[in-house]
Amino acid sequence: MKIGVDYYPEHWDRSLWTSDADLMQKTGVKLVRMGEFAWCRFEPIENEFHFEWMDEIIEIFAKRGIDVVLCTPTNCPPLWLCEKYPDIIPTGRDGRKNDAYIRGHRCMNNPHFLEYAKRIIEKMAKHYAKNPAVVAWQIDNELEANFCFCENCTDSFRGWLKEKYTTPANMNKAHGNNVWSGEYSAWTQIRPPFGNNPHAWLNPAFMLDFNRYASDSTVKYLRVQTDIIRKNCPDTKITTNTWFCQNMPDFYKEFSGLDFVAYDNYPTTKIPEDTEECYSHSFHLDLMRGIKRRNFWIMEELSGGLGSWSPMSRTTAPGMLEGYSLQALAHGADTVIHFRWRTAVSGAEMHWHGLIDHSNVPGRRFEEFAHLCKTAEALDFINDTQIRSEVAIIYAPENEWAFKLQPQTEGMFYFEQIRLLHDAFSKYGLNVDIIGPDADISGYKIVAAPQMYVTDENTVKRLYEFAEKGGTVILTNRSGVKDTHNNCIMSQLPTVYRKLVGAYVEEYDPIGRDMIPVQFADGENFSCREWCDILHTESAEAIAYYDGDFFKGKPAVTVNHYGSGRAYYIGTVGQKAFYRHLVRDILTECGLPFVETLPDNVELTERMGDGYKVRFIFNDTDREQSFSIGEEELSLKPFEMKIDRQNV
Ligand code: GAL
Repeated sequence: MKIGVDYYPEHWDRSLWTSDADLMQKTGVKLVRMGEFAWCRFEPIENEFHFEWMDEIIEIFAKRGIDVVLCTPTNCPPLWLCEKYPDIIPTGRDGRKNDAYIRGHRCMNNPHFLEYAKRIIEKMAKHYAKNPAVVAWQIDNELEANFCFCENCTDSFRGWLKEKYTTPANMNKAHGNNVWSGEYSAWTQIRPPFGNNPHAWLNPAFMLDFNRYASDSTVKYLRVQTDIIRKNCPDTKITTNTWFCQNMPDFYKEFSGLDFVAYDNYPTTKIPEDTEECYSHSFHLDLMRGIKRRNFWIMEELSGGLGSWSPMSRTTAPGMLEGYSLQALAHGADTVIHFRWRTAVSGAEMHWHGLIDHSNVPGRRFEEFAHLCKTAEALDFINDTQIRSEVAIIYAPENEWAFKLQPQTEGMFYFEQIRLLHDAFSKYGLNVDIIGPDADISGYKIVAAPQMYVTDENTVKRLYEFAEKGGTVILTNRSGVKDTHNNCIMSQLPTVYRKLVGAYVEEYDPIGRDMIPVQFADGENFSCREWCDILHTESAEAIAYYDGDFFKGKPAVTVNHYGSGRAYYIGTVGQKAFYRHLVRDILTECGLPFVETLPDNVELTERMGDGYKVRFIFNDTDREQSFSIGEEELSLKPFEMKIDRQNV
């Protein structure tokens, strides 16, 4: 495991470069990420390039055995370029240019921007191609789906639709534009979804395509950059750093042309008191690993209290900084780079804390970081180990977009049941993969596919095959609701999944924040909320019933034997205990071993090596936890990680 730091040499006086690098070397830092946002230093005046400062700092690090991740600086075009071509600035939904010119101020489809972006990337790629210290490239920064509404983007959206549908008539049919006189007779009539009307006014089919386009548009921009770097630096790995943002692109497409996934990991510094909150970031880490179903990097890791974009948060409590980094390792990260070496003394982000405070006096957090570096050095045996899981949960970006476009009921959001199921499997100490809808599922024992709202026929087919061959599928409410265009399917819910589930929905009640009792056949009682599918069993057997309201006594959860496998259907939404109860039964049915004695938010995961496995037990709470696993008695301090190696 390698530990690194994000370093911005352009923020610091040159006199600090050497002393910073000396301290990094002494501490055990193995790599630094640099160059992000520094376009105006690389090209201060149009067509005048300066790489000598970057060469100098790279050499300082290389002499100390510290590798470099170099970034393309395209997130921040220089102000001379904005002045020359104001059209490069993105346009908002209100049709106005975002004239702050601060960060992310570039339209990914603007020809002027692309011309200059390609040139600087080509210059950098050629210049650093033979520099052995540069071990990887990061493209841009935290790319979101392209929600720009300028003329170039409008053209590119029209082109995207034209390529997909060939004629406006085909598109009208697919989008159901016979409603509200919405039929197009020419591509020029297409406009991106401008205006402040709530999304609810817009056609969901059109809007889902807009989301698809916005994501594809970002991927296209990424490819432009990747191609230039690949051509010039064929042996250097390329990635981009992602996170959970407002307009998330389709991660599976985003990373398909890249060498590895990199994630910016900022777990909470304040542990919520509400025990129903799924605060553990292991969920995000599992999702990141699932994008390529391979180990990944953390490109920015929490180092101190957050701030700047909001009032300052609590600082990292003792143990958190090291614990969260090791938690990332336990979920498949191989390299963890901390944001940032020292807190900025100027600029908008001066209250987002790095490892060292403004004083430049290394303090408590730095000591913990130094300890982490030493811990990581002793973990050589983890290199080349991988996570293997028997359980997968499907996350499909299109479902998420469609849910955001049409919220289903008060309190319901797409990630909720994915997280609740992830919580339930994690509670029993199982590794869990979160995978895309196209991933190969044949190797798993259990595949949960919550809220398969937008239908992709191929995924449906693979879920049937999986159950047929003996797998266990878990489906939930709001599945099979929409066709691939985001129009409703005219058939009884869960439509395409009805045979697999062996039951259908007689009627549903979106109960929002109301609570209704639900009882399992074994007598256990829970409360459900948000949604009630009133189920009618065909070949399925009911395993839980509503215990209130006009549908008292009707099935809420069912199980169906299908082929040599099984399909569970959860018609409602419960709290953590509800899913844990159900998952415990499912694991027992499947014969998968599990641990029942883990306290809440204590995680048990494993990485497999050749002939051995590495076990991680992490106390993701701010209290000491004492518990047993089989005969073994354990006690872990707040945020403590226990790692051991066992031969298999
Ligand atoms: C990240 C971003 C960094 C920095 C950090 C702290 O999301 O990639 O550049 O802004 O947040 O705000």
